[in-house]
Amino acid sequence: MSALLLVEALSCRFGGLVAVDGLSLELHGGEILGLIGPNGSGKTTVMNLISGALRPHSGRVWLGGRSIGGLPAHAIARLGVARTFQLVRVLGSMSCLQNVQAALAFGARPLWGREAESSAHRLLERVGLGAFSQVRAGELTYIDQKRLELARALGLAPRLLLLDEWLAGLNPTELQQGMGLLASLRDEGMAMLMVEHVMHAIRGLCSRVVVMSAGARIAEGLPEQVLAQPEVVIAYLGQEHA
Ligand SMILES: Nc1ncnc2c1ncn2[C@@H]1O[C@H](COP(=O)(O)OP(=O)(O)OP(=O)(O)O)[C@@H](O)[C@H]1O
Ligand SMILES: [Mg+2]
Repeated sequence: MSALLLVEALSCRFGGLVAVDGLSLELHGGEILGLIGPNGSGKTTVMNLISGALRPHSGRVWLGGRSIGGLPAHAIARLGVARTFQLVRVLGSMSCLQNVQAALAFGARPLWGREAESSAHRLLERVGLGAFSQVRAGELTYIDQKRLELARALGLAPRLLLLDEWLAGLNPTELQQGMGLLASLRDEGMAMLMVEHVMHAIRGLCSRVVVMSAGARIAEGLPEQVLAQPEVVIAYLGQEHA
């Protein structure tokens, strides 16, 4: 099976710091791939490189067989890559409905007017914000802003969704709901690259996981097996826990 996303020997430096160091991974259609690793290991930088927020210093990124490494973010979004941010970004002074409508205008199949409005309502329902369409995004709780950000990402009708700690900070009930939502998206065929510290979610959702440490890939495989590997435990917890 050919990969939907193929990342080869990707590297990115900030001054003298090598934030991503020759990382390779592949992700197939309909799959949730986990990308995990301790704080500062380079996960968000990988998301930024794939989505075009940052340009790689070296390496290649392919989406559906097409080279996208180094393209501007808007071009990559048009080709079907959407993301949520570790630090949520919504248009605070606009209503939830307007936030999603704005995203719909920029997807691979741009929507305007009535069509955009009904589509935006559907997406807000989907993420559990059906009753909030007229509420200003800036007035939402943090968790609801994350829901809104996901609705915006889905508005781009992506082939690949990049989730940067989307489940972080949820209470147990919200976590179950959030995981259910992501599972339903996957079951509809949406592929996701999921950066997450919530291991319960990694175990429950990901078919495979890639582990980073200091910018490099140190393990890859089934979640249960990878999380039990000594080098992964050491990367997370330090030598004394191995
Ligand atoms: N714009 C930047 N300029 C300089 N250094 C940066 C920049 N972005 C990230 N870094 C550094 O690159 C390294 C990787 O950061 P990154 O945010 O990718 O880690 P992460 O794995 O997402 O961490 P966390 O789990 O805490 O979110 C860190 O040392 C970080 O300080
Ligand atoms: Mg991060």
